Amino acid sequence: MQITSFKQYEEDYKKSVENPEQFWGEVAQNFQWRKPWFKVLSWNFNEPNIKWFEGAKLNITENCLDRHLATNGDKPAIVWEPNNPEEESVTYTYKMLHERVCRFANVLKRNGAKKGDRICIYMPMVPELAIAVLACARIGAVHSVIFGGFSAKSIADRINDSQCKVVITADGSYRGNKQIPLKDVIDDALIGCPTVEKCIVLTHIRTPVSMLKGRDVWWEDEVKHVNDICEAEEMDAEDMLFILYTSGSTGKPKGVVHTCGGYMVYAGYTFSNVFNYQPGEVYFCTADIGWITGHSYIVYGPLSQGATSVLFEGIPTYPTPSRFWDIVEKHKVNTLYTAPTAIRSLMSYGEDPLNGKDLSSIRVLGSVGEPINEEAWHWFDEKIGHGKAPIVDTWWQTETGGIMISPIATVTPTKPSFATLPLPGIQPILVDENGNEIEGNGVMGNLCIKFPWPGMLRTTYGDHERCKQTYFSTYENLYFTGDGCLRDEDGYYRITGRVDDVLNVSGHRIGTAEVENAINMHAGVVESAVVGYPHDVKGQGIYAFVIYPEMHGEAELSKKDILQTVTRVIGAIAKPDKILFVSGLPKTRSGKIMRRILRKIAEGDTTNLGDTSTLLDPGVVEEIIAAAKKL
Ligand code: WTA
Repeated sequence: MQITSFKQYEEDYKKSVENPEQFWGEVAQNFQWRKPWFKVLSWNFNEPNIKWFEGAKLNITENCLDRHLATNGDKPAIVWEPNNPEEESVTYTYKMLHERVCRFANVLKRNGAKKGDRICIYMPMVPELAIAVLACARIGAVHSVIFGGFSAKSIADRINDSQCKVVITADGSYRGNKQIPLKDVIDDALIGCPTVEKCIVLTHIRTPVSMLKGRDVWWEDEVKHVNDICEAEEMDAEDMLFILYTSGSTGKPKGVVHTCGGYMVYAGYTFSNVFNYQPGEVYFCTADIGWITGHSYIVYGPLSQGATSVLFEGIPTYPTPSRFWDIVEKHKVNTLYTAPTAIRSLMSYGEDPLNGKDLSSIRVLGSVGEPINEEAWHWFDEKIGHGKAPIVDTWWQTETGGIMISPIATVTPTKPSFATLPLPGIQPILVDENGNEIEGNGVMGNLCIKFPWPGMLRTTYGDHERCKQTYFSTYENLYFTGDGCLRDEDGYYRITGRVDDVLNVSGHRIGTAEVENAINMHAGVVESAVVGYPHDVKGQGIYAFVIYPEMHGEAELSKKDILQTVTRVIGAIAKPDKILFVSGLPKTRSGKIMRRILRKIAEGDTTNLGDTSTLLDPGVVEEIIAAAKKL
């Protein structure tokens, strides 16, 4: 299954396009199935209706755990590095992880969870988070992990959307020198969540928490009441594995649904290939399990391949900006997979944090989540990889389940700021506004995928029509990514960023409409418009234009009030970086906000605003420009 030469990449790619069923059928042989499929693929993009490995039965945890026990049971599966470097790191071998997962799976059963139930997980980056995820998969329950930075309201919306029966959380989490009271947030959320029957609470920071009789139970107590034998539930390849909520250009976040068989094959195949993972190596992905990168490339991908995956609780700058390099040195990390925003942030501290750090174990570097600028690419290459470690710039999305366009480490070439070539099985095309294919090289367009791959989303939870509208209706018979893309003279792909109203702030996907809704919930705010602007560290910053005629007190205080409201409604990750109070917004006669103009103003480029004659009140633009200059 592992590609070892460029020639093989070309051959595999060709085969995957000419005979996709044979290609993926062969890849899938590298996994363990209880029962084989009768059909590799049936699909249409109109409904959409996509089925991979139809009829096959499996449990993903047997692939991630059981099958490694005989030969690799004592090999480290997860190496946990705590927030505080003075604390001991913890290693879970495959045998230990298997035991913990089975035990916790029994805890879930004991608390009424069964196959098909939805379970919300809101936890710090501790091994128990991975254990909770895998325990859900073990019993066939559907996990919905929510990133620790989301507010009670966001959690409640997500829990209610998928009607979760159980919540798994912890008393709190550490983030650098801060403590975050997770159970408190969950308590606020659960006031409005009638479907939740049980809440399992892990003790982590041992902060006081309220425990409601009948609903709340302690993780540590529960595991004492069960044994560690738990036969894996037999799942259909197309049974739901998890839901992960993600932002789009409109309205509330949607629950992207991934299923068992295809997702497993795709996460495992891409992990093994893109990082060129070799047995015995230590792999460190710095993402949070609350995002898709953590699902696919901390948990499922690496474990399905018997890899050693480092799980880090903290942040890159705590206690010092050397932390990543300390971890690399301490655990002899061979592959470091991180985000451009982290690289840029660490770059800003200069070379001191690197002094004396032994990074010689590094063999492969990876980047994910947003376009990586050339400066960051070269710094990563020279300072961290010492020019010897290929950088895989991996383009993909929550919806794609796994990496789609990326170099294959040591096999295909890299090129600064380019995701380069599609992986086998992936058929990207560029289209113009009208959906016509743009052929040839040296062209730009909207990035679509024209053929299914095993890791793709199947639906959006509870609202299939939304899935169809969002991804399959913009262009007929194509999956639309929402990204703009360049294909250069060599046929290499470079993702240029979102073409819809989705922002990418520090690699976090945030819909402008969501932030606007949150700002508009602030008493007294009449209207707002949110756009992105280039930000040195975050990639994109959030710029909000707000109409707030009868402001409560001073402008600076009012801004803080608005930030507080956004924090309550979505979470701190969606706080605008800049707020500009305005008396009006540039609108067309039909009432549409002309974001193009606001984007230019936010970028500080007001030389060429284009045609403003269609505006209802062109004067408002001058006023906004003048105000923006003073901000
Ligand atoms: C962006 C993260 C450029 C892109 C895995 C995509 C990237 C969105 C890259 C998905 C990359 C991700 N180069 N842009 N290597 N990787 N993106 O769902 O805009 O959190 O649509 O998945 O991030 O974000 P998501």
